[in-house]
Amino acid sequence: MKGILFRKKPVEHLLNNQASTQFKKTLGAFDLVLLGVGAIVGTGIFILPGTVAAGYSGPAIVFSFILAAVVCSLAGMCFSEFSSSVPVTGSAYTYGYIVFGELTAWFVGWALLLEYGLAVASVAAGWASYLNSLLAGFHLMLPKAVSGPFNPADGTYLNVPAMIIIFILAFLLTLGIRESTNFNTLMVIIKIGVILLFIGVGIFYVKPEHWHPFMPFGVGGVVNGAALVFFAYLGFDAVSSAAEEVKNPQRNMPIGIIGSLLICTLLYVAVSLVLTGITPYAHLNVNDPVTFAMKLVHQDWIAGIISLGAIIGMITVILVMLYGGTRLLYAIGRDGLLPKSMCELSKKHQTPVKNTWTFALLAAICAGVVPLSKLAELVNMGTLLAFTIVSIGIIYLRKNKNIPTGGFKVPLFPILPICSFLLCIFLITQLSLQTWVACGIWFIFGLIVYFMYGRKHSLMNRS
Ligand code: ALA
Repeated sequence: MKGILFRKKPVEHLLNNQASTQFKKTLGAFDLVLLGVGAIVGTGIFILPGTVAAGYSGPAIVFSFILAAVVCSLAGMCFSEFSSSVPVTGSAYTYGYIVFGELTAWFVGWALLLEYGLAVASVAAGWASYLNSLLAGFHLMLPKAVSGPFNPADGTYLNVPAMIIIFILAFLLTLGIRESTNFNTLMVIIKIGVILLFIGVGIFYVKPEHWHPFMPFGVGGVVNGAALVFFAYLGFDAVSSAAEEVKNPQRNMPIGIIGSLLICTLLYVAVSLVLTGITPYAHLNVNDPVTFAMKLVHQDWIAGIISLGAIIGMITVILVMLYGGTRLLYAIGRDGLLPKSMCELSKKHQTPVKNTWTFALLAAICAGVVPLSKLAELVNMGTLLAFTIVSIGIIYLRKNKNIPTGGFKVPLFPILPICSFLLCIFLITQLSLQTWVACGIWFIFGLIVYFMYGRKHSLMNRS
């Protein structure tokens, strides 16, 4: 029994499979950076610099963003080493399979399904609320019953716009990754454009006296803030899901992951500085701090354009998270731990159509009925669990003599992977008890699925 649970995937086997992968290799470094920025910059930048500054960090929110970026960069380097050494789809799930064996892989895969699924659902819900407020600006209203999650007391039953956006993007993904990345590129350019517009206009209204005191809640506030703004960086790991569709992954994967993290950090720090410079931090606890600040300085047109940009920005986050989820299901299905239909590619577009619709349907149901504000921490939990395994996994990966040399290597080995591991554990301890309980229930369900289905159907049974 113990042997079955800890059986590992031979790397040579994976690399051979990868050579015969059915996916087309179409993505370069620039596409990956755009994919990363598309996945990362979304809800976070438009909301967290205000709410977290007001309640936790003050103007020192820039340090919270930098601290969270350090944690993500360390984990990002570990992801880069894995994805450039073993460029196969499935991200941390596949890496877990190689170094720790089947049960850990399943655990990581299950954690990532939680991250991707709930990230899609929560960002879609956020998108729907921005859409509702933009429509309200034009005096257009959706019927209340279909404009929010199930909450009869408030008169809302189903969040239809959130569901529709997920289905539209799922349809786009079924057409092919190249088509989806072209769409993604356009959206990313618009999104960065409105953020630069905010910085460019806002900088003229900055009053440096608003930055005093700079750290009103002390170092503790900065650290708490970092655990919260961590959400704003989620998504870069989705880049490694694209490994099988990347040209020269040894070079391009690290550029894609680290490059996108760097761009996002610069944007977050700049937006936070301008925002807290325009408005005293204590006033920023609103749903739309960025547009709020622009309205405050009577730049209503710019505020409108930024709202529109936020709506577009969130679309790319949903798209890339949806993509990550479908590729993960594909990898798990290919290994036999989930039904084979999860890894069938359509003949016409070579995309996993069945798994795309399955994943989209589940995420849409969550987005449609569940009020996701309470579940947002679960997204962080799923991600951090995957990060811890990937960080510590590097130490075991280096011991594997079958890994091809020449790929990206984490510097200062083993200090940096260990720091990454410890920092992720530290952030996990900052999450609430409620999240721990909800997460426990999800994993018990996952174990039932594994023991009832995966263990019996695993391809490893054949070798
Ligand atoms: N990083 C993503 C966002 O901020 C989840 O929307």
